[in-house]
Amino acid sequence: MAYDLDQFVADCRASLARDPGPAGREEVRKNLERLLANQHFVQTYCGPDVPRGLKVLYEDTELGFQILAHINDKARKSPPHDHGASWAIYGQASHYTDMIEWERLDDGSDPDNAKLKPAKSYRLLPGHAGMYQDGKIHSIDYPDNARFVRVTGTNLDNINRVRFDLASGKVHQMTPQQAT
Ligand SMILES: [Fe+2]
Repeated sequence: MAYDLDQFVADCRASLARDPGPAGREEVRKNLERLLANQHFVQTYCGPDVPRGLKVLYEDTELGFQILAHINDKARKSPPHDHGASWAIYGQASHYTDMIEWERLDDGSDPDNAKLKPAKSYRLLPGHAGMYQDGKIHSIDYPDNARFVRVTGTNLDNINRVRFDLASGKVHQMTPQQAT
């Protein structure tokens, strides 16, 4: 039988209960790639007929992690941002996402200003999932109709996150549902 959402949820629970740190998260990342190899899952939750929007596929009330489907219709380029005190895993379902991981050149002591430099850039293709640990800064750039599944350690709407304006160097608090 193909690896489905229920199996993925059960495996996420088992991995993160056993080890909420990088090793448990890496199991989640690998299993998300297994899930994205299931074309029935991809068509059902991320296919062309799925209405656009941000869908919570699962939220774990005990461990706090969330599985979200980002059903985009329009291309978007995000500013560099973090996921606050949470980790995030991005798994590509259709099209692609160009990822840039950023490094801070300043010491992080000024809450309003930052200096960033790109550290790593690559394209996430369908079936592939990238891991972004707590505090990691990244930006995403995707074309029309790109769809992805994101797993976060917690509901990001409940924690403080920041985005960075590259031109001015200013750091801004992010509002809920900024969907990146
Ligand atoms: Fe993000």
